[in-house]
Amino acid sequence: MKIKSICCLGAGYVGGPTMAMIANKCPDIQVTVCDMNQARIDAWNSNTLPVYEPGLREIVESCRGKNLHFTTDLKPAIAAADLIFVCVGTPTKSYGIGAGRAADLRYIESAARLIAEVSHGNKIIVEKSTIPVKTATAIQRIIAANNSTDATFQVLSNPEFLAEGTAVADMENPDRILIGGEQTPEGQAALNALVSVYANWVPREKIITTNLWSSELSKLVANAFLAQRISSINSISALCEATGADVNEVARAIGSDSRIGPKFLKASVGFGGSCFQKDILNLVYLCESFNLPQVADYWRSVVEINDWQKSRFVEKIVRTLFNTVSGKRIAILGFAFKKDTNDTRESAAIHVIRDLLTENAHVAVYDPRVTQETMHRDLLEAGVSQHSLDTNFEIVASPYAAAENAHALATLTEWDEFRDLDLTRLYDLMLKPAFVFDGRAILPAEALAKHGFEAFIIGKG
Ligand code: NAD
Ligand code: UGA
Repeated sequence: MKIKSICCLGAGYVGGPTMAMIANKCPDIQVTVCDMNQARIDAWNSNTLPVYEPGLREIVESCRGKNLHFTTDLKPAIAAADLIFVCVGTPTKSYGIGAGRAADLRYIESAARLIAEVSHGNKIIVEKSTIPVKTATAIQRIIAANNSTDATFQVLSNPEFLAEGTAVADMENPDRILIGGEQTPEGQAALNALVSVYANWVPREKIITTNLWSSELSKLVANAFLAQRISSINSISALCEATGADVNEVARAIGSDSRIGPKFLKASVGFGGSCFQKDILNLVYLCESFNLPQVADYWRSVVEINDWQKSRFVEKIVRTLFNTVSGKRIAILGFAFKKDTNDTRESAAIHVIRDLLTENAHVAVYDPRVTQETMHRDLLEAGVSQHSLDTNFEIVASPYAAAENAHALATLTEWDEFRDLDLTRLYDLMLKPAFVFDGRAILPAEALAKHGFEAFIIGKG
């Protein structure tokens, strides 16, 4: 089966960029990205895309209106497609059974019902959203129970491994593409059809095919292993601070062992992003459901260390500033969960700023990409009061504006521009003693000391 028309449900951080890449690499395939969120679709059709990713705009602009389309008209797009990617959100469930751990599959279910309602002929449904193992069975059952037409369906799992900020490069040259399918002739035919789409630009040896459950589970496990490395190095960062060791030196020393490898060993104020915590909690819930409490506890500790790291950072600021930050201006550099994205979901900055506002600090934030609307929304959702935002929270246009009359400055996102700050200017602007809390270990320790700052760098004793 040759794929000529693709539809994607969900125009978010995954749906938009992945479909733009497919459209770009496969000019013979018509790709339609659908979402019921009109504002998001309007933004994809405008000059200001809803997702900031280096290189994304160029790709979208080269295909949009040719073989890449964005629409809220879901039904005709599904009906016309040979293959439907499901890229809807799978957030942590906030209510009922499994609240706080299990994945909320309501968007997956609504997508499956809609597909069943409007489809005719043979369709391939591809789970690209990150989901618990066995979700493919749930999708198959929902479709079978709601399919009143002549349509037949194959469900594939094709998890996405892109990281935000490097999405275009990751998709252009992926470490691997993973596709899971049923071990039947029809399942393998569907799997081969999707392999052919990726084979337009990904070498065949990088396309891994497995059974459905291995593919679904591998996505959760990949994120759990990546996050585990960060919590491991962050746990060691506390020991380094206590002993005089330097976590960057330790990371370099252990990462040079080819069995360990150098990546994902950067100590930080804590990992953020929409997925690590959610996916580990999802894995924890799965383990509990399969009566594996020891395994669940093991993975839960990765999230616990991450929460501890964020609290520890705030405690360090409060203790260092003579046990009170009340009424003190604290400059915060960075609000995004990592550099080169405007995404703030689960950003460590939200936790740190909320806790500083609880201590009655006056917080002045600079981030090159995150809007005021997003910061306000995130902080209100995190429990900050409107009064606190109105009186103690300020968004400024540069790191220097944030530093003006500040008692302390904290880096929470590793934006490149923070590495080249004019330390003399910064120091002159701040109250003395001028404290720096480098939550990303990106500032030069010796230069900070030379300029007169009292600096705390995460993981440096
Ligand atoms: P997102 O919230 O940015 O986008 C999801 C979109 O789906 C929303 O715009 C929503 O309106 C839309 N939607 C919900 N139900 C729909 C329906 N029935 N039909 C059409 N649209 C619908 O989420 P995201 O960051 O793109 O993540 C999507 C999935 O991909 C999640 O499962 C996530 O875990 C996974 N994932 C995300 C990343 C990442 O970097 N963000 C990377 C890999 C995997
Ligand atoms: C992560 C994975 O890297 C992707 O493979 C996966 O597809 C994605 O989650 C997902 O499923 O959503 P992402 O969250 O976009 O991607 O970004 P990462 O580069 O993994 O960074 C996550 C967080 O960890 C950031 O806050 C980052 O600053 C932090 N981090 C990363 C560290 O603190 N130290 C490190 O060494 C690396």
